[in-house]
Amino acid sequence: MAPRFVGKVVLVTGGGNGIGQATAKRFASDGAFVAIADLDGDAARGTAFAITKDGGKAEAFEVDVGNEKSVSEMALSVKTSLGPTSILVNCAGIGTTSPLLLTDLETWNKTIEVNLTGSFLVAKALLPDMVEAGFGRIILIGSINSRKALKRRNAYAVSKAGVASLTQLIAVEFSEHGITANCIIPGPIDTALTKRMHDQEIRDAYLDRLPIKRYGKPEEIAAAAAFLASEDAAYITGHFLDVDGGFDVSGL
Ligand SMILES: NC(=O)c1ccc[n+]([C@@H]2O[C@H](COP(=O)([O-])OP(=O)(O)OC[C@H]3O[C@@H](n4cnc5c(N)ncnc54)[C@H](O)[C@@H]3O)[C@@H](O)[C@H]2O)c1
Repeated sequence: MAPRFVGKVVLVTGGGNGIGQATAKRFASDGAFVAIADLDGDAARGTAFAITKDGGKAEAFEVDVGNEKSVSEMALSVKTSLGPTSILVNCAGIGTTSPLLLTDLETWNKTIEVNLTGSFLVAKALLPDMVEAGFGRIILIGSINSRKALKRRNAYAVSKAGVASLTQLIAVEFSEHGITANCIIPGPIDTALTKRMHDQEIRDAYLDRLPIKRYGKPEEIAAAAAFLASEDAAYITGHFLDVDGGFDVSGL
């Protein structure tokens, strides 16, 4: 298949690791110039290096997605270096886990700040250029934890429910400008985040419940993002795409 994103600037937040890293590599292999934005500058540079070493186009940027000034500066740097962004995949996120009564306000606020406010701030920073171009693709990352309540996922699940709602709001408000917004809902994916958040008990419970009896790969989320950003998905907006091994629909 011919590369689908030649000439397009794709911004991947959280591109230093896990799902974001796989997504950055996927878009680069499809011809895009990828801006990799991450709190961890070394990790972002590592992904950019791996892509350029393979002949792709990528540049690393440091950002704290929960900080408006940092996001504005990153968006300006990306535009100055690469030109306007036409595709955003917002993979930056943190996982937090604690029982409700032990969830302190700082943890709650930080989780909402990175996962939800971060999604809002990055989309807000890029949307004006997408409106001007009359084209844009926004892909946000939710979680099955906002669908099926799991003990100890309080702030995380709520932040992801907000991300799902934000997706629909962007989809409706910006469709007249040729912009689509969709939300991927991953199941358990094998990354550093799940290595931290999933103890053996959770891991065994997932493997027992998942119809496809394994954790997903970051590349499987990247493939869904590439589809949603492609011309094939031009009539899909405000959609939640489950990439979860069948977890959400499974009964006993
Ligand atoms: N792994 C899973 O099973 C799973 C399931 C559902 C949803 N998700 C979501 O997918 C996204 C990626 O998860 P992952 O598993 O690849 O995690 P990860 O920890 O491997 O990668 C997350 C990346 O985000 C970056 N990041 C964290 N805070 C940031 C900030 N304030 N500003 C900029 N970058 C920041 C980290 O440095 C890291 O590179 C997250 O939003 C996560 O909630 C993951």
